[in-house]
Amino acid sequence: MKGAIFFSGKYGSTEQYAHWIGEATGLPAIDIKDPKADPAEYDYIILGSSIIYFKLTIRHWILANLPQLEGKAKLLFSVSGAGPSEKLERWVANSLPAKLGSQIEHVALAGKLDHTKVSRWVKMMLYIASVFNPDPQASKEERYGFDHMDKDSIQPIIEYIQQFQHRPMAVT
Ligand SMILES: Cc1cc2nc3c(=O)[nH]c(=O)nc-3n(C[C@H](O)[C@H](O)[C@H](O)COP(=O)(O)O)c2cc1C
Repeated sequence: MKGAIFFSGKYGSTEQYAHWIGEATGLPAIDIKDPKADPAEYDYIILGSSIIYFKLTIRHWILANLPQLEGKAKLLFSVSGAGPSEKLERWVANSLPAKLGSQIEHVALAGKLDHTKVSRWVKMMLYIASVFNPDPQASKEERYGFDHMDKDSIQPIIEYIQQFQHRPMAVT
């Protein structure tokens, strides 16, 4: 069976996870910005997306490719500042068409925020958000950035992919 990783990110952490997963499994890691990114060619799909302002950045691409994604095995990994939580599950669910949400497995990965990579405007927005954030740790991370990238955390995704790789090809 043929699989691929389609990813969408803004500042490099989702791309980094996509490449780590690709290296570990041999699957191609395809940036959705590539006009040739076509999920129709694959039997199972790994979707990777950062969360920016409470939404998956891949959501528009998913909508545009819905017919090619439906009916296939799919796993979505999100990359965010927030850790696994009900709140994060809600952001993911709200970013996906309802019928797809029930068909998709979700793995939450921890990302990275490097203030030297964001615009002055974004830096200002993050500063304002930090002032109003009641969670002192989250507030500190909004203001100064963070790096929670963890290569080992891709293990459940590798195991998900391996179930397809060990499946014998159908004889036609
Ligand atoms: C402008 C901006 C908005 C963000 N909004 C959220 C958010 O709503 N929730 C969250 O958990 N993390 C948020 N983050 C943190 C990102 O999800 C995190 O930095 C992630 O690693 C970015 O992935 P990328 O490098 O692939 O773009 C935000 C980061 C930025 C720069």
